[in-house]
Amino acid sequence: MNRRTVLVASLLAGAAALPTTLRAEDAVKIGLILPMTGPFASTGRQVEAAARLFMAQNGDTVAGRKIELILKDDGGVADQTKRIAQELIVNDKVSVLAGFGLTPLAFAAAPLATQAKVPMVVVAAATSVITERSPYIARTSFTLPQATVPLAEWAAKNGIESVVTVVSDYGPGVDAETAFTTRFTAAGGKVLETIRVPVANPDFAPFLQRVRDLKPSAVFVFVPSGIGSAFMKQFKERGLAEAGIKLIGTGDVTDDDILDAMGDVALGTITTHHYSAAHDSPENKAFVEAFEAANKGMRPNFMGVGGYDGMRLIYEALKATGGDPDGDKLIEAMKQAKWTSPRGPVAIDPRTRDIVQNIYFREVERVDGQLYNVEFDAVEAVKDPVKEAH
Ligand code: PHB
Repeated sequence: MNRRTVLVASLLAGAAALPTTLRAEDAVKIGLILPMTGPFASTGRQVEAAARLFMAQNGDTVAGRKIELILKDDGGVADQTKRIAQELIVNDKVSVLAGFGLTPLAFAAAPLATQAKVPMVVVAAATSVITERSPYIARTSFTLPQATVPLAEWAAKNGIESVVTVVSDYGPGVDAETAFTTRFTAAGGKVLETIRVPVANPDFAPFLQRVRDLKPSAVFVFVPSGIGSAFMKQFKERGLAEAGIKLIGTGDVTDDDILDAMGDVALGTITTHHYSAAHDSPENKAFVEAFEAANKGMRPNFMGVGGYDGMRLIYEALKATGGDPDGDKLIEAMKQAKWTSPRGPVAIDPRTRDIVQNIYFREVERVDGQLYNVEFDAVEAVKDPVKEAH
C-alpha cells in the first residue's frame, strides 16, 4: 500500500484503531485548538502567546523528545473543534490535545479523546462538569463554582444583603448562578432575581435597567473573557453605581486583557479569581515581564496563565514518563503534577483531574496609572466545590 492508501484506510478505520507507537526519534506533537478568530479571539491570542513563551523559556525538547506544537483555529465553533481534533488525532498523530476556549468546544472534543486515548488539556473552558466528560481530560483553568463560592460567602459577611445575578446563558454562567445563589442564600443573603443573557452579542441594557429597578445592594455578574467591556459600558450608562448598586463577580468580567481600557467605571469592582497580573510573587513578576516583552506590551490574563500552565503540565507529564507519550501513562502522570504557577501554588487533583489553586479576593484599583485587580485576601488550595459534594 502506498502512503495515500494507508491514510485513507486509517481514516476509514477510525481513530481508535490507529497504531499509536512512535519511534524515539519522532517528535511528540501537541495539537493546540483555539478560537483565533471570532468574538473569543482574545482567548486564542492569550493562550498562544503564553504557550510559545513557555516553549521559548523551557526549550523544545523534553526527556530527549522534540516537542512540536500544531496550532489550529476553530473560530469558537464546536463543529470545527470536533473536525480539527479528529484530524489532529488521525492525520497528525498528536500525543496530546490542548486549548478549548469555551465549554461547548471542550464538550465537542471529549468523546474523541476517550476513543483515541489521547490526553486533552483544557486550559480555558471552566464549566465544572467538563472533566467528567472524559477520563483523559485534565484542566489548568478553573471552574466557575471554585471562583464563585468564596465571593458568595464574602458578600454575605460584608454588608451585601440582596443581590441580582446576571450571567451568560450557558454552562459556566449557569454554574456561577447556581453556586452564588446557593451559598449566598445559605449565608443569609437574598437573591432578588436571576437573569440570564445571551452569550453572543449580548445587549445588557434592558437587563441592567431591570437590576436598577430592583435596587439590590449588589449585582453579581459572570460574562466570559472578552465580554466584560460591553457589560461595564452599559453598567455605566444605566447609572447603576449612582443608584448605589455595587458590582461583584468572578474575575472574568475584569479580565486583565481589557481591564485598563474600561476606565474609571471599573474602579472598586470586587471579584474573586485564580489569577491577577498584579499577583505579588517573584514567579508572576518574571512571567508578566517576559510575556509583555514578547508580545508588544500585551498584559497576560487568566487565559494566558491557563495556557502557560497547560504547557507546563504536558512537560511535567512527559518528564515523568521519560518521554513516553502513551496516553494512559501521560494522564496518570498529569494526576500527580504539582508546581508553582505565576498564580501561586497549584496541583492537579488526582480524583477529578481539575486544578487545585488559591482563589483571591481582588478590588480594581489604579496602580501607576493603570487599572489592575489588586488582591487583598485569599482562600488557599480550593478544589471544585461541585465535585467535593459527590
Ligand atoms: C467557558 O466557556 O467555559 C468559559 C469561557 C470564558 C470564561 C470562562 C468560562 O471566562
